[in-house]
Amino acid sequence: MNPEIKGIIFDLDGVIVFTDELHYEAWKITADEMGVYFDKEINNLLRGVSRMESLEIILRNYHGEPLSKGEKVALAEKKNDIYKKLLEKMQPSDVTDSVRDTLNELKRRGYHLAVGSSSKNAKYILERVNLLGKFDAISDGTNITNSKPDPEVFVKGAEFLGLQPQECLVVEDADAGIEAALAGGMHSAAIGNATASRKAEYNLATFEDLLVILE
Ligand code: BG6
Ligand code: MG
Repeated sequence: MNPEIKGIIFDLDGVIVFTDELHYEAWKITADEMGVYFDKEINNLLRGVSRMESLEIILRNYHGEPLSKGEKVALAEKKNDIYKKLLEKMQPSDVTDSVRDTLNELKRRGYHLAVGSSSKNAKYILERVNLLGKFDAISDGTNITNSKPDPEVFVKGAEFLGLQPQECLVVEDADAGIEAALAGGMHSAAIGNATASRKAEYNLATFEDLLVILE
């Protein structure tokens, strides 16, 4: 336990909910239609990265006529339309008991909870799964200009909680997110995909492991 930690800033996609799979599905449909190669390994590079930057990464495998800015925006919008259709099916049961119970216990212990997500759909997702009221602050793709690995989304999250960066623990499934937490001077805990690089201060095997490191 680190007595300095007063707040926890959670990434959303791939940490609180498994929308990382839905991002993959929506990009896969978009890439297939363009004849651009895309797989789960490439999808891992998109974790924590903004929508337009994600498109640029996918287009590294595009070998056709150069695309205009307008065509790129249209592609990103198309992906987001597909993604939003998939999100419509989300419901409270898409949040695991492990996540819900752990959030409740952390609140009971007096921690301030925030979301720090690059997504512009974060509030909609939290509403769909009935978790919006659980967080004291939301910092997301609508209030930042630089996406992870820039620390902006977490710095704003700490500000919204009224805490100093070093009083916050960031929980992330993206390497870019762990890098952002380190750059912002925050504590960091990796889960899922981000555990492999071992860049974070803590590695979580399960979400409820948070209760152990914050005992
Ligand atoms: C992040 C995801 O949470 O949000 C990224 O990890 C995604 O993969 C980014 O590109 C932006 O999401 P959205 O919903 O604004 O397109
Ligand atoms: Mg994520």
